[in-house]
Amino acid sequence: MKLGIDFGTSFSTMCVLKEDGKPHVLRDADGNEKIPSVVYWGDDGVKVGQAASDILGDVPSMDDDEKVETLGRLVKSVKRELLPRHTIALPDGSVITPVEVVAEILKYLKRNAEDLYFHAKVSDVSLTHPATFTEAQKKLLTNAAKQAGFSNVRLMAEPIAAAMGYVASGAKIGKGVLVFDLGGGTFDLAYLQKGTDGEYHFPVPPLGDARCGGDDFDQIIYDWADKRMKENCGSGFSETFDVDLPFLVLCRQAKERLSRSDSAKLRYYSSSTSQSYSEMLAKDRFEDMISAKVDATISLVERMMGVLEEKNLPVDTVLLVGGSTRIPVIAEKLKKILPVEPIRTIDTDTAVVMGSVYEIPAVEVNTSRPAASSVEVLDQVNVALGRDEKSRDSDLLRQVQVALLRRQLNK
Ligand SMILES: Nc1ncnc2c1ncn2[C@@H]1O[C@H](COP(=O)(O)OP(=O)(O)OP(=O)(O)O)[C@@H](O)[C@H]1O
Ligand SMILES: [Mg+2]
Repeated sequence: MKLGIDFGTSFSTMCVLKEDGKPHVLRDADGNEKIPSVVYWGDDGVKVGQAASDILGDVPSMDDDEKVETLGRLVKSVKRELLPRHTIALPDGSVITPVEVVAEILKYLKRNAEDLYFHAKVSDVSLTHPATFTEAQKKLLTNAAKQAGFSNVRLMAEPIAAAMGYVASGAKIGKGVLVFDLGGGTFDLAYLQKGTDGEYHFPVPPLGDARCGGDDFDQIIYDWADKRMKENCGSGFSETFDVDLPFLVLCRQAKERLSRSDSAKLRYYSSSTSQSYSEMLAKDRFEDMISAKVDATISLVERMMGVLEEKNLPVDTVLLVGGSTRIPVIAEKLKKILPVEPIRTIDTDTAVVMGSVYEIPAVEVNTSRPAASSVEVLDQVNVALGRDEKSRDSDLLRQVQVALLRRQLNK
């Protein structure tokens, strides 16, 4: 009995492998497949998911003191805070750690899966993480899972899980697959190749950017509107906070509307500054505003394509994963530099979690370039597999390690 979890910056999802070998995405008690990765750290208890996210809706009608208290206790996008020695200060002066917050999210998912699906305790989890996560971050994520009550924790890189999720969902994909995953907070890029044994292999390590995603696009809109507000009224959206969270939510909604229409209206009354704001944001303007971030992802794709060309590894399928790939200009830019059109199936939001429940197939390591050391090659394998150090002793990895060390010794 194992639970697969994709702990995302904006949303988390959970999945199990059914007896027929198919993945089954679970819903929480609120009926959500996509569970907001939001925690409200209340004085008398913690709220997670939709219940925490809903509190934001009440904030605009609160007085300033209540606002400070409430917003100071709401933690969103904690995945980006999952860094060593990072802490979160609460309004009463106490301090919590990102690991504690992540543990609450994982605990919530575990409890829902146990109560609504397993009807028993579950101790094994397969947890996905961005390809760019450092060993220290993977350790923090593992610690959070342990705090949440999981005793066996397996880690897996998100783009690899996504590709396996697409395969599991029955999508027709070719032999050389590029996964482009742009979510709420992170960007991941990975290449998979189908071997003669029919399994997908990972001949080159994934690339990515740990701070690139929908959160950045929301903030870009917010900063733009805040500047306009200051120009027109002398002050921005909030004098008390760095960010007026309810307005940031409106920026996010406007961003999502711009994927479907040519303009979006931003209308808001800031109770902290008693000022109204109303402005139309055109799609072209938004695309200009986010172009530096988007172009950074395109540059990584070009870099990956260069590596693949050098190694004679063809790309015949490009998979789009993650909510931010719904922004049309991203696919348009990708089409210009890729040999095939990127595809996205209905499983884009759950591709990562659907793949998380599978065992990782055999690995093929890049052998064309002599490695500086066997450790470097092993790190490549571990990055590609998304393995943490502790899992290096698995059978598969041991086989790879032995083969690599032999090759080193024979040089
Ligand atoms: N139609 C849309 N247009 C633009 N952005 C969208 C759209 N739908 C969702 N998004 C954005 O996608 C992001 C969430 O995507 P996703 O659920 O893939 O992220 P995540 O898995 O939580 O994050 P990550 O994988 O980066 O940790 C949010 O920023 C959301 O605003
Ligand atoms: Mg994601």
